[in-house]
Amino acid sequence: MKKQIIVASLALAFSFAHTPASAQTVNVICSVQAEWCNLISTVYAKTTGVKINMSLKGSGEGFAQLNAERENPKTDVWFGGTGDPHLQAAEVGLTLEYKSPSLPQLQSWAQEQAKQSGYKTAGIYSGPLGFGYNTELLKKKNMPVPQTWADLLKPIYKGEIQVANPASSGTAYTMIATLVQLMGEDKAFEYMKRLHKNISQYTRSGTGPIKAAARGETTIAICFIHDAPGEAMQGFPVLALTPKDGTGAEIGSISIVKGAKNLEAAKRFYEWALTPAAQELGAAAKQFQVPSNKATKVDARVPDFKKIKFINYDYAKYGASAERRRLISRWEKEVNSLPR
Ligand code: F6P
Repeated sequence: MKKQIIVASLALAFSFAHTPASAQTVNVICSVQAEWCNLISTVYAKTTGVKINMSLKGSGEGFAQLNAERENPKTDVWFGGTGDPHLQAAEVGLTLEYKSPSLPQLQSWAQEQAKQSGYKTAGIYSGPLGFGYNTELLKKKNMPVPQTWADLLKPIYKGEIQVANPASSGTAYTMIATLVQLMGEDKAFEYMKRLHKNISQYTRSGTGPIKAAARGETTIAICFIHDAPGEAMQGFPVLALTPKDGTGAEIGSISIVKGAKNLEAAKRFYEWALTPAAQELGAAAKQFQVPSNKATKVDARVPDFKKIKFINYDYAKYGASAERRRLISRWEKEVNSLPR
């Protein structure tokens, strides 16, 4: 019996090694913007012959999807999205430990993300949280450019600000975690209750508000500032800044799903995603996060971290499952339920 198992395993290993790449697929949840996800699919299929089945989801939605598939995973790799739900997925056993040989090539924050998760995730990019604004609308409405978190509470901005909903969006969760670390939890919730009065809409996706600001559907967006240049390149009057009183940053991450049906293909895609060539596709798709591989060419539009006042974001604490769930449900109860 033992001999049969060994023979079968060898045969399987042999047949896999000889499976033509064209017969392989890898199922990916992609939590960056569609243009980047699509470019990845096209380039990867062209260069490797491997087809990617791409499903586009926000960070919170990606986590929920993996959780729903827990007993019978349909996804092999989760690419992108903020790092907190990747850490949460690692903690609750949804993702696989995989120590990439490329880790030493990555920036320290990306390696730290891997270490903190027990090597169940790794950083692929980073980006700061801030405000995007429509320059024409601000001028037309005679409003100043908000420079600090406190500025956003001013009555002049009533109904002029959009941010995403933290249940679906990692961007919005990064905002909650940033404010809690900046102000202390109770003060941060008091702040968000007051901010609520100035919010016109909580969008599903983290990039919804900056797209709305670009198109003049809202004046101000709370967003990752690396998402603004892509809108400006399309001709929209939009700029972004980080608040002077300090801000947080995401560590966009990648994880292999535990129980992935196409494990070898998943590992190959994961390794590819950590290469400079793959990471340069971000800027090629007009997305300007800081790439994690130190050898990746950095586009001039990528925010300069040296000029930004950052808080010392505690990724382990705010990526912990219980903490993330608690803060989001407190936000639902105490903030989202309030009238405006
Ligand atoms: O793709 C743009 C981006 O801002 C990423 O940098 C980030 O990881 C992701 O969107 C977050 O999206 P969401 O807030 O919808 O989870």
